[in-house]
Amino acid sequence: MRVVISVFLLLAAVSAGASTADASYRDIFGKEFLTKPWAGGQVEESVCISCHASDIIKPEIRDIPQEWKKSWHYHNNVSCEDCHGGDPEDAEMSMSPERGFVGTPEYSEVPEMCGKCHIGILKNYLESGHGKALKASKTGPNCVTCHGSHDIQKASIKIINEARCSRCHSYERAKIMKQALFLTEKKIRDIDNNLKRLKREGVFTDEEDKSLFRTHAEYRTLFHTVNVGLVKKSTDKFAKKLGLIEDKIDKTFRELEFRKNFSAFLMMVFIGMGIVVFMLAKTYKD
Ligand code: HEC
Ligand code: HEC
Ligand code: HEC
Ligand code: HEC
Ligand code: HEC
Repeated sequence: MRVVISVFLLLAAVSAGASTADASYRDIFGKEFLTKPWAGGQVEESVCISCHASDIIKPEIRDIPQEWKKSWHYHNNVSCEDCHGGDPEDAEMSMSPERGFVGTPEYSEVPEMCGKCHIGILKNYLESGHGKALKASKTGPNCVTCHGSHDIQKASIKIINEARCSRCHSYERAKIMKQALFLTEKKIRDIDNNLKRLKREGVFTDEEDKSLFRTHAEYRTLFHTVNVGLVKKSTDKFAKKLGLIEDKIDKTFRELEFRKNFSAFLMMVFIGMGIVVFMLAKTYKD
């Protein structure tokens, strides 16, 4: 384990040293994220994984390690002990409370388990109709109701669908919210594509990248408020912020266009001058 971690750190150090100059904001963010305490090689076999995939576990839950290996958490080094606690290196003590094992959370304790890492979301969730209903009467959905527990995938507004959201109440409010979120999402995608186009033209877009990344991250926690009024109002706010980035992009595209036209114009002038000089020289010779 220690060897793996030092190799990991060495690689991280080498790559950080080699590429800080041209690394984009996203790369820097990724590296920063990977230095968090839960990162660092635990994705290899641990005693939790090997024992839980073995015959001593009852068949109904034996495929949990398999499910987890398909998850986005697996790809981001979030392993069994990061949620359940315990010691992944010591089979005998692995599930002992002394080593921080907390076992399976109660239905209403799931948000705190996930919120250890997803802090902003936990806050929005607890203040929401869903969070309040969960705490008051266990009638609200918890994180697992919408995301699952072991096979968690990257989230999107596809999670908002009639089958899931009409289990406890009508789908109407969910639908209005999905429409508002959809518009913002589309705008973010369009801007992202335009930034990529600019980058291909050799334009430096770090500032806009950062701004878009921040706006997108802020916007994505919004759903958990399940506050239709707030989502609609925030959609206007995000539209304004995104509009500013869009204006800058449009301006850059116009400048690029102007520069291209201007070079074409200069080229024409030079060719024209060339022809005149050639003609003059010819007349002179004649
Ligand atoms: C992202 C957090 C997370 C990770 C990572 C995770 N679990 Fe869980 N696990 C949960 C939650 C939440 C529950 C309770 C809800 C449920 O049953 O789906 C649970 C339930 C369980 C249960 C009880 C299931 C039952 O039906 O009684 C077992 C056993 C378990 N996990 C083992 C594991 C093992 C082994 C790993 C690693 C391969 C793992 N978990 C990784 C969050 C996680
Ligand atoms: C040597 C085998 C073994 C190891 C190692 C092991 N477990 Fe378990 N675990 C079990 C068995 C057996 C059960 C009971 C499951 C059953 O009912 O079949 C269990 C149950 C669980 C449960 C659900 C029961 C509860 O108390 O909430 C969770 C969650 C869990 N293990 C997580 C872990 C984690 C996390 C690790 C590593 C830190 C781990 N286990 C290591 C064998 C193991
Ligand atoms: C009622 C369903 C629902 C519940 C309950 C729920 N989520 Fe979500 N979650 C979603 C939807 C829908 C999205 C996608 C939102 C988007 O892309 O705009 C999402 C997005 C996310 C994201 C990705 C956004 C980001 O900022 O990275 C994370 C992480 C997440 N949820 C974690 C949680 C956690 C932790 C909880 C519990 C505290 C929770 N969710 C409760 C539906 C839910
Ligand atoms: C130990 C920290 C940790 C815990 C605990 C944890 N997560 Fe995560 N989660 C992460 C990391 C790291 C990522 C990957 C980075 C990212 O996508 O934000 C992630 C990604 C996600 C995503 C995908 C985000 C996206 O970009 O679409 C969802 C959804 C999610 N987690 C839900 C949960 C739920 C539900 C729980 C509890 C059952 C949970 N997480 C517990 C660290 C954690
Ligand atoms: C496990 C049951 C359950 C599920 C599943 C569920 N909800 Fe809810 N929802 C509730 C409860 C309870 C309330 C609070 C009481 C109320 O306002 O009706 C609520 C309230 C809401 C509200 C109104 C909040 C407010 O402040 O006015 C919206 C919007 C909402 N849910 C959207 C969704 C969406 C979108 C989904 C699917 C991704 C979903 N719900 C899935 C139980 C659920």
